[in-house]
Amino acid sequence: MEEEIAKYTAKVVKAEAEIQRLEKDLDLIENPQALVNSGIVAPAVLQLQAEKNKLLYQLKHLKTQLAEEKSKSPDHMISITALIEDVFQVAILAAYPGQDLPKADVTSSAKFSDYQCNSAMSISQKLKTAGVKCNPRDVAQNIVNNLPKVDCIEKVDIAGPGFINIFLNREYVSQNVFKLLNTGVQPPPIGKRKRAVVDFSSPNIAKEMHVGHLRSTIIGESICRLLEWVGHDVLRINHLGDWGTQFGMLIAHLQDEYPNYLTKPPPIGDLQSFYKASKVRFEADEEFKKRAYECVVKLQAHEPEHYKAWQTIYDISRKEFQKVYERLQVHLIDRGESFYQERMKLVIEELDAKGLTKVEDGRKIMFVDGHKVPLTVVKSDGGFTYDTSDLAAIKNRLVEEKGEWLIYVVDAGQNGHLETIYSAAEMIGWLNPSVHRVEHVSFGVVLGEDKKKFKTRSGETVRLVDLLDEGIKRAEAKLKEKERDKVLTKEELEQAKSSVAYGCIKYADLSHNRTHDYVFSFDKMLDDRGNTAAYLLYAYTRIRSIARLANVSEEDLTKAAKTTKIELDHEKEYKLAKCVLRFPEIILKLLDDLYLHTLCDYLYELTTTFTEFYDNCYCVEKDRTTGKIIKINMSRLLLCEATANVINTGFKILGINALQKM
Ligand code: ARG
Repeated sequence: MEEEIAKYTAKVVKAEAEIQRLEKDLDLIENPQALVNSGIVAPAVLQLQAEKNKLLYQLKHLKTQLAEEKSKSPDHMISITALIEDVFQVAILAAYPGQDLPKADVTSSAKFSDYQCNSAMSISQKLKTAGVKCNPRDVAQNIVNNLPKVDCIEKVDIAGPGFINIFLNREYVSQNVFKLLNTGVQPPPIGKRKRAVVDFSSPNIAKEMHVGHLRSTIIGESICRLLEWVGHDVLRINHLGDWGTQFGMLIAHLQDEYPNYLTKPPPIGDLQSFYKASKVRFEADEEFKKRAYECVVKLQAHEPEHYKAWQTIYDISRKEFQKVYERLQVHLIDRGESFYQERMKLVIEELDAKGLTKVEDGRKIMFVDGHKVPLTVVKSDGGFTYDTSDLAAIKNRLVEEKGEWLIYVVDAGQNGHLETIYSAAEMIGWLNPSVHRVEHVSFGVVLGEDKKKFKTRSGETVRLVDLLDEGIKRAEAKLKEKERDKVLTKEELEQAKSSVAYGCIKYADLSHNRTHDYVFSFDKMLDDRGNTAAYLLYAYTRIRSIARLANVSEEDLTKAAKTTKIELDHEKEYKLAKCVLRFPEIILKLLDDLYLHTLCDYLYELTTTFTEFYDNCYCVEKDRTTGKIIKINMSRLLLCEATANVINTGFKILGINALQKM
């Protein structure tokens, strides 16, 4: 018994000693000076650490200065939010050297100031978990005490639990509007220019292009315009559904209906009914079905007559699509499924060689990490699938095209398919997430006003050409209702019609969060009140007309911009100027998440802010009785000009044609 007790006591003493030693070690780690005193760490290490902190601080500081310098560069406009974020980052580094703290959090949507820094709360929280007690207000004060002096900030104050209110410097704002007027609306710097590949529109040959494709077309075109505007290198790809077994029945039907198709182009007006008719025969007629399969085999072997038949159907269909693209000013290069015929064979060889395939029920499949449903890469009849062509396509985009940023503008229903393709590309070794940015820009369904899937009255899919025609008719009626036909020339009216119609259709799509379903309503999109293209187009034309009606020409404005100081004494002038300068920050957000409705919301806000300004500030003063111009406020006319320039740049990204007159 005694022996037992002695054993235990020895164990306890040993454990206590161990604990004491660990505590001492811990203390040493937390107290660097003790490390030096005890000789574990050379004093030089501490010096180096202090040096590192100082350098880190200097580096950040230099970066801020650089950003301020850049804001003077004629090639770029900078995001003021990003600049202020940098400034606060410097202050945080200086206030809490050597601590691992969250990034400075600055927003432009502040209630009581121009910008607001919300970092004090999260820093205080973080310090608390590290055992350092300090309330958020003290943290805020500490940050403020360490703020470097920069041109853009006039003053800051601390509010509530520790929000830091940031007020811009009026002179800085004025100078930046001045710069914008003289160098034009320039994109924010993007760092390295990237090779981007955007897959959009991508309808299926011989089938009607439906509203889902319209969404992809509109969103994709806008994304391309955005990327091109900021300076990326963009490859616009139309991944047409132009290959596959459905062509067997189409070719067989073509041979029967238009036997001399080889010498005379068949006058097929309506491919949709041609497709339907061939499908009916395919389902009902065994003989026809057999022939259709033979046609597929011959097509795949590139037998000349069958290939020509495919080409014929392709051309008719592609011409129809082109009509839509031209009306909407959309540009794409065709690289449909047929483009990958040879490449798909090579992909299968590569997968087999890497041991990534398996045969199951006669099909060749590939299991992909993190995904339940495997990809079917070869069907039991030896044919390829949608999966195979997308594998070949992603390889082409990454390996051959050296794409660094791949974007797929495809309906939300295909997310599973696309994510599996991305993961597969990673497994195969084509895609490296630390180098490549690959994303699905998904979007919801277009609904009719009855909140059901958008269809014609008889339940058919709506033909896009008909939809655009209807848009034109409605736009014309709207313009006539406003008696615009009485003031515009015939040509101007024509222009206004298409600009309003197509602008409204595009804007209705782009101004909604793309992941949501949206209701297609001509009445809503053509309403000239609210967040619509009709409203923005009118407002834009009105802004542009202010100078013109005061007999100030564009040249006059350009000249005046060189010497006129932008006065921002009136509160509404200042508010408008600050709103104008937020444009680059919106662009950066767009590049980050590819949600175009943020740009629409901003343009709407800018336009309403303009109206507030215009209602409160005379740009041109006229004699009340004679109507003669007494005074022109050039600074204000230039502010109108800056606003219009930003709106027009926004329009260009959205694919909307601004009008000088409407
Ligand atoms: N043609 C397809 C469809 O109509 C869209 C293709 C999207 N792009 C892709 N790489 N899968 O649903």
